[in-house]
Amino acid sequence: MIHYDEKNQIFQIHTKNTSYVIGLADGAYPGHIYYGRKMEDARCGFLMRTEEAPFTPAVCKREKASFADTFSTEYSTWGVGDFRESCLDVRTAEGQRGCELRYQSHRILDEKPQLPGLPSLFAGKSKAQTLELLCTDEVIGLEVVLRYSVFEDSDAIIRSVSVKNKSEKPLALERVLSACLDMDQNGFEMISLHGAWARERGIVRRPVAYGKQSIGSVRGESSHQENPFLALVTPGTNQEMGEVYAMNFVYSGNFLAQAELSQFDRVRMVMGIHPQGFAWHLAPGECFDAPEVVCMYSAEGLGKMTREFHDLYRNHLIRSRYTHQKRPVLINNWEATYFNFNEEKLVAIAKEAAKCGIEMLVMDDGWFGKRNSDNSSLGDWTVDKAKLPNGLHSLVEKVKDCGLKFGIWMEPEMISPDSELYRAHPDWALHLNEREGTQGREQFVLDLSRKEVVDGIYEQISAVIRSADISYVKWDMNRQLTDVGNAVLAPERQGEIYHRYMLGVYEMQERLCHDFPDLLLENCSGGGARFDAGMLYYSPQIWCSDDMDPVERLSIQEGTALVYPLSTMGAHVCDCPNHTTGRTTPFQTRGEVALSGTFGYELDITKIAEEERAQIPGQIAAYHKYNELVREGDYYRIASFRENGVYDCWMSTSKDKKEALVTFVQVFAKPNQKSFHIRLQGLDPNAEYRLEGTENVYSGSLLMYAGILIPREMGDFKSRLLHFNRVC
Ligand code: DGJ
Repeated sequence: MIHYDEKNQIFQIHTKNTSYVIGLADGAYPGHIYYGRKMEDARCGFLMRTEEAPFTPAVCKREKASFADTFSTEYSTWGVGDFRESCLDVRTAEGQRGCELRYQSHRILDEKPQLPGLPSLFAGKSKAQTLELLCTDEVIGLEVVLRYSVFEDSDAIIRSVSVKNKSEKPLALERVLSACLDMDQNGFEMISLHGAWARERGIVRRPVAYGKQSIGSVRGESSHQENPFLALVTPGTNQEMGEVYAMNFVYSGNFLAQAELSQFDRVRMVMGIHPQGFAWHLAPGECFDAPEVVCMYSAEGLGKMTREFHDLYRNHLIRSRYTHQKRPVLINNWEATYFNFNEEKLVAIAKEAAKCGIEMLVMDDGWFGKRNSDNSSLGDWTVDKAKLPNGLHSLVEKVKDCGLKFGIWMEPEMISPDSELYRAHPDWALHLNEREGTQGREQFVLDLSRKEVVDGIYEQISAVIRSADISYVKWDMNRQLTDVGNAVLAPERQGEIYHRYMLGVYEMQERLCHDFPDLLLENCSGGGARFDAGMLYYSPQIWCSDDMDPVERLSIQEGTALVYPLSTMGAHVCDCPNHTTGRTTPFQTRGEVALSGTFGYELDITKIAEEERAQIPGQIAAYHKYNELVREGDYYRIASFRENGVYDCWMSTSKDKKEALVTFVQVFAKPNQKSFHIRLQGLDPNAEYRLEGTENVYSGSLLMYAGILIPREMGDFKSRLLHFNRVC
């Protein structure tokens, strides 16, 4: 998979369908030569254009600045002539900034190394190889390892960077991005996932223009607003055709993703930890590991990219034993009761839920301290005896007696000013000296960059989990980071807190996974503000959004599924009118849209209309029937309401192409409208498929190339499922 051609000084990294080629200009500067369809010819060094003026430094030193500013580098550095976006910016003890990396040596490993303390892809059952390019700046005593890993069964290239101080004096890292990709402009457009609370991950597409266009987060989490995903696509790229260069960050904190079109029509794409608020003090001998970026190239449009990401994450990122298992159908009491519940109410919900086939009750926010609204008690992880007078263990046993498992909500990263914890340890909140703390949702953020805080909170939450038979934890995080400082770290290390905070979160989740291997963990952040590959390393599912309106969910789930597997998307059936939009939609549609995620309910089952409750057993039967197909299958986007304004359609096809489930939603009824014509994807063209519930048999080629007709219905927000089984 990885090969070094010594004669041509060319590194070739091959995946199933793609190749990535690196050269050494002057035998010293790692240059990017090619990324695209598989190409195994190593005589491609000329593509570095080192024969064209301006010449390389060795030939003509006076032109070094122009060389640096136009050369397609593998990793850009600040201060010695490359004026485009830098990945690495280093300040010496004398306060000077400037860095130049030269190749020293390389290693090709038959493994995929893990990054200490960080989420990191793993080889699993597949073969893996890694190229490590060791580069140095002898002047300032810096060693940089550029890492590229591949798996035999994937098209992904996983990149990371480690920076080590080999000098006798401290160095300050002002920025360390994780990946850089320089390419010729190809009419690129850029795709990102933009949103807000309750409107996460809408697909946005725009031309790449001269200058820099970036997305990012400086909120201390990957954020509702932007997701750490960026793709550059050639003009006309759609689901089935076109070239796609994508990057996805395996990290949950601040990030920057950017495309820069420069003077000679070259595009630089970068991704990494956002430099705003970041600085890392590197004492002699210390090393900094920048998180991984997954690079994905597809010559077959966005659909192929999506399916490669889904397979990659299901097989090489998510470690939970539930990854390939059906998750229990849950009922969550948040929108049913908000803070207003007690044991009696929860048991009543559990009893009714059990009758319908629901398998787990999740007790959401409000069970601890004296929390009757969002203004208190975060940090006091002991049961509120006013609500649960018999304690947690007794409640869990009662719920289990109803035949349900039990799950619990926690927000371990936060502290309320009105809490015993804050009164005892006010310094445990992130804070800036002498400045009044900035509240968000009436809470502060715990300083998880500190070990004693991580240990103190972990002790509390693990005691809760041990105190009763708890099968599931929803780990919430409801505000963004501000006041990012503390009185503990030295002044030159204050810029490390954002990243150290993330390392603290990861450590706590790692300990949870280790200490409670059977626990089903669902990450959440005020809805879907931390839906990223970093979190998936610890939890097999993430709450997609607080918006469960199925119409809104169409674009939220479409954007999420562009990168992340359906098996990871937390999706529930809500009550109506919907709590975020006020919209009323058919119960069937709410169910059928949620079926493409983890599936559950978030409503007061004791109060909903009988005709809706009566539909629940059927929906749960559908979940059991189709979940494996949805969870493990290949996802194809057929039509998008976002684009056509009328209807939405997607499908999951089993890997053996024997079965497919199509979900169709007519969002709006148009008067005098004909049936909808859709073309399926991902089937075997030579096989025959029967549409379940009918005698109709169609060839795969008919279904895919000619298409089928979906009757138009009267009324808005109507959904239907079409299940096809291969008959021969
Ligand atoms: C935000 C989550 O997204 C909701 O589902 C709910 O758990 C609330 N927080 C509770 O505060």
